[in-house]
Amino acid sequence: MDLKELISKDKLPRHIAIIMDGNGRWAQNRGSMRLFGHQNGVESVRQVVEAAGELGVEYLTLYAFSTENWNRPRSEVDALMGLMVTSIQNETESLHKNNVKLSAIGELDDLPPTVKKQLQSAIDYTSENTGLNLVIALSYSGRWEITSAIKKIAEEVKNGDLDPENIDTCMLETYLNTYTIPDPELLIRTSGERRISNFMLWQLAYTELYFTTVFWPDFRKKHLYEAIIDFQRRDRRFGRVKTQTGVATVNN
Ligand code: FPP
Repeated sequence: MDLKELISKDKLPRHIAIIMDGNGRWAQNRGSMRLFGHQNGVESVRQVVEAAGELGVEYLTLYAFSTENWNRPRSEVDALMGLMVTSIQNETESLHKNNVKLSAIGELDDLPPTVKKQLQSAIDYTSENTGLNLVIALSYSGRWEITSAIKKIAEEVKNGDLDPENIDTCMLETYLNTYTIPDPELLIRTSGERRISNFMLWQLAYTELYFTTVFWPDFRKKHLYEAIIDFQRRDRRFGRVKTQTGVATVNN
């Protein structure tokens, strides 16, 4: 039986987040430069975007470049930024045809102007689309995001515009990059690493974690289906007992 047919449409995760890991090792295992792994990772991006869209997943967030990735050798950072520009350029039309709406989270002001420009034009071009919401995390980290939110809140308190008594979790969420996006229900990390690595630290509070040893450039639609099937077999309780979970519907 086709794996896709084992997926229950009524229990699809609304939001899937992916830490795309293992590009460098995939390339090195083949005696190639790390960039070759990143280049091949673009095909995996294409596959998961297509698969998520076909299934009817609402949000797909891809961790493409972390705040910490700026510390990689200059040549790799430059090559990755170049790859972002060409990938966005090459894929925008096909994203649009597939009704995908692109957005980005992260410290986008730190990106080279060429990346920022290309990204913004793809975001604008796809802004009216109503299918899959594809969120690219670029120059992003969870700690950066939470720290930025706290700075904005502190500024408002200092200016007398906000009473600290009114700060609660719902309010804090509105200062995050993701405030219009539901929390991920499923997080996938490839390459055998079992870490969160500073990704969506706030949003992952109740997310189901799925780790696979497949390196990102080898990740195909069937791997996404496997992760979703695994997710659908899990018993999500949100801190409650099993008989209560029918009422646990808010955000997570
Ligand atoms: C992690 O592998 C991967 C990255 C830091 C970059 C991912 C980027 C792409 C797949 C390029 C295209 C993306 C988009 C959204 C257009 P790694 O280098 O950390 O691998 P390693 O752990 O084996 O060293």
